[in-house]
Amino acid sequence: MDNIILIGFMGVGKSTIGSELAKKLSYIFIDSDQKIEEAAGMSIPDIFRIYGEKYFRRLEYKIIKDLVDMPRIVLATGGGAVMNRQLFDILMSKGTVINLEASLSTLYDRLKKSDNRPMLDHNDRKKRIEDLYRLRRPVYMKAHYTIDIDGKEVKDIVDEIVEVMFGREEENIVLK
Ligand code: S3P
Repeated sequence: MDNIILIGFMGVGKSTIGSELAKKLSYIFIDSDQKIEEAAGMSIPDIFRIYGEKYFRRLEYKIIKDLVDMPRIVLATGGGAVMNRQLFDILMSKGTVINLEASLSTLYDRLKKSDNRPMLDHNDRKKRIEDLYRLRRPVYMKAHYTIDIDGKEVKDIVDEIVEVMFGREEENIVLK
């Protein structure tokens, strides 16, 4: 149960925050999208273009399921991974799941120029983000913890995660 798993919408900073968090805790940082690209031998946009989303989701499920068997990892997951209910349940049982939460305006801002996210290839990107966000947010909110990232520095978000995860434990140790 040592693992820390970051979930949340595209653009919330799961990879950046995850890698800083891992450094701080001396955990191993893993980005599931990067592992998927390595396994497929191509970029995520290419996987979507050539094989389609269904194929990507199968690969994503298999790779993440195997990764969380490793000890002491910080895992940054792709924004759609937990929409697979079975995978969400696996993650909840294999570590502490942290949802990084951002407002829609932060997400629009961060994602408006993104060109490597096939889920956003849509005529009306703003509406697409809004629709996906509404669909996914209820699932993200079931994480063990939710951390609001709006207007915060990476360092402060990392400190907040450490605090919610270990703060109380540290207090208990002092009190003993
Ligand atoms: C996806 C998010 C992406 C990547 C893929 C699909 C999604 O990861 O897994 O493009 O469905 O939200 P990020 O959340 O890191 O952008």
